[in-house]
Amino acid sequence: RTQPLVLGIESSCDETGVGVVRGTTLLANTVSSSMDEHVRFGGVIPEIASRAHLDAFVPTLEQALAEAGATLDDVDAIAVTSGPGLAGALMVGVCAAKALAVATGKPLYAINHLVAHVGVGLLDDRATGQQQALPENLGALLVSGGHTEILRINSITSDVELLGSTIDDAAGEAYDKVARILGLAYPGGPAIDRVARTGNPKAIRFPRGLSQPKYMGTAEEPGKHRYDWSFSGLKTAVARCVEQFEARGEEIPVADIAAAFQEAVVDVISSKAVLACREHGIKDVLLGGGVAANSRLRELTGQRCASAGIRLHVPPLDLCTDNGAMVAALGAQLVMAGTEPSGIGFAPDSSMP
Ligand code: KG4
Ligand code: ZN
Repeated sequence: RTQPLVLGIESSCDETGVGVVRGTTLLANTVSSSMDEHVRFGGVIPEIASRAHLDAFVPTLEQALAEAGATLDDVDAIAVTSGPGLAGALMVGVCAAKALAVATGKPLYAINHLVAHVGVGLLDDRATGQQQALPENLGALLVSGGHTEILRINSITSDVELLGSTIDDAAGEAYDKVARILGLAYPGGPAIDRVARTGNPKAIRFPRGLSQPKYMGTAEEPGKHRYDWSFSGLKTAVARCVEQFEARGEEIPVADIAAAFQEAVVDVISSKAVLACREHGIKDVLLGGGVAANSRLRELTGQRCASAGIRLHVPPLDLCTDNGAMVAALGAQLVMAGTEPSGIGFAPDSSMP
């Protein structure tokens, strides 16, 4: 039996993505980003992102279909991110997907963006063409500008459990805010990652949020925030630190502050993720989201997972950041599991859990 050809549409933030998969094989992944238009504002402007999706959607769709060597007629199902994300941005992708579904009569699947970040890990290895089995007891560590979460995947199509998450800023958001404080370019993640390499991470010690015993508790009696993160206090600590150098009329040691900030973020993300995995019997963990590009996060999480006997899976970077292939990949899993399509009555949900 041939595997389903699925079209995936992503528009939750600044990337317009259309991907095409056949079962677990990636055929096309076209992404158009409006990031250039947001740079001068130092953050994604929702109205601009929505308009950019509208402009980019049809060309992105056409390019993806051409790359896949397919037409809309060949497609067996359409999948679209319905949340979480920016409401207006989601609306464009969802309306486009509904229009395609109505015009072609193809089944439509509403997709949770976060679960799709995990679904991408099911695609065949691009180098070897090998099909990748989804390990039992899989965990997922998702770290981006919009999310910082550790999940347990009981079933990718029906049962995903949130073990912990940030209670305020996402890690990428903290990178972006701290970069602004340090006078570095937006988006701040890559900029901090770069200058941190020349700094001393031990020069300053920044706080590790929610790591005190009252939040952590014990394995037997977990505290309320044992597996959660908080990055807003860290951002404030960096701002105070910069102010102190300014007040003393001293030059701001940007590289040291960047390195120390990065160490605080990466330390607390990797330690809590490994703790959550250990205490939930998770043996494999998938890393996803834009911050997965961070060299120090990969290094420290890799080391700590290895010591705990946990395998860390890092998909290729273009599949870690927002894209349509991940939506198509999860859509194909739903089709293959015999899941009922969503119909066209659903609304985008910007705060989808
Ligand atoms: O997944 P993504 O492309 O979009 C969403 O936020 O959903 O992630 C973008 C975020 C930005 O906050 C950016 O600063 C951060 O990922 N980022 C990084 C690095 N590259 C991108 N953060 C730390 N180190 C990096 N190398
Ligand atoms: Zn994302």
